[in-house]
Amino acid sequence: MNLNEKNILVTGGGGFGVGEGVCKALLSCGARLIVNEKDPEKTARVSEKFPGVLTIAADIAKTSEVASMFERIEKEVGVLHGLVNNAGIGLSKPAHEITEQEFDQLYQIDIRSVWLISKFFIQQLLKNDITGNIVNISSVHAHSTIPGHAIYASAKSAVEGLTRGMAVDLGQYNIRVNAVAPGYVHAEQNYDLLRSVTDNPEQWVENIILKEQVIHTEIQPEDCGYTVGFLLSDLSRAITGQTLYVDNGSTIQLFAS
Ligand SMILES: NC(=O)c1ccc[n+]([C@@H]2O[C@H](COP(=O)([O-])OP(=O)(O)OC[C@H]3O[C@@H](n4cnc5c(N)ncnc54)[C@H](O)[C@@H]3O)[C@@H](O)[C@H]2O)c1
Repeated sequence: MNLNEKNILVTGGGGFGVGEGVCKALLSCGARLIVNEKDPEKTARVSEKFPGVLTIAADIAKTSEVASMFERIEKEVGVLHGLVNNAGIGLSKPAHEITEQEFDQLYQIDIRSVWLISKFFIQQLLKNDITGNIVNISSVHAHSTIPGHAIYASAKSAVEGLTRGMAVDLGQYNIRVNAVAPGYVHAEQNYDLLRSVTDNPEQWVENIILKEQVIHTEIQPEDCGYTVGFLLSDLSRAITGQTLYVDNGSTIQLFAS
């Protein structure tokens, strides 16, 4: 996959889950990366991990910070060719117990920011009269879910709806919009979430791998990253509005054993 000379923005790339796998894969395909993170500490960690990558600390839930991020990218990099809407937060609590504040916070990051950043990105593509690509990070929860994940699942379903709808609007400009939906991948936020659903996170993960997935190996962050790279590259030039499930087959079984 060749992403040489492509400037690609990855949001929330400072964790060690899916975002890190996306960054590693895109760098290995030759992309010039711009990595966003919420807090400066994590941004510094990205600079250590990926020297030479432009890092921008911005809270993508805040419109003013997103606007400043795009101004900085225009000044320091020029035009962006690709966007990976990776940043996202989880929540494990039944929908009827969730507060308005928790609901708003999850929706603000997991869906509103995906739309907002995509809007800034598309406007700069149209202004510069070039084509480009968006890949949104969805989740297997958009397909089927587990107890306590209704709000997260609903936000990720919205991400897939937005992906299809924007693909319809933007096809006329040869701009493609797709999504990647990972299964379980180790990530910082998962440790806290897992502790709220099980007393034995290691066993829970092993059960997923051995019983819920048809391929019994752990999904690596780079597995998601290379799929993102494919969707950003010209190899997928006839694919738009689609979600690719990188889940070792966990969503294809009628009944998991
Ligand atoms: N890890 C999994 O098993 C899994 C499965 C399916 C989908 N996903 C999705 O993958 C994406 C990456 O998550 P991850 O699990 O790798 O977790 P992660 O915690 O490693 O990464 C998420 C990153 O987003 C950043 N972030 C959160 N709010 C932000 C904000 N307002 N502004 C800027 N950055 C912000 C966090 O600081 C964090 O570094 C998310 O969209 C998540 O929903 C993850």
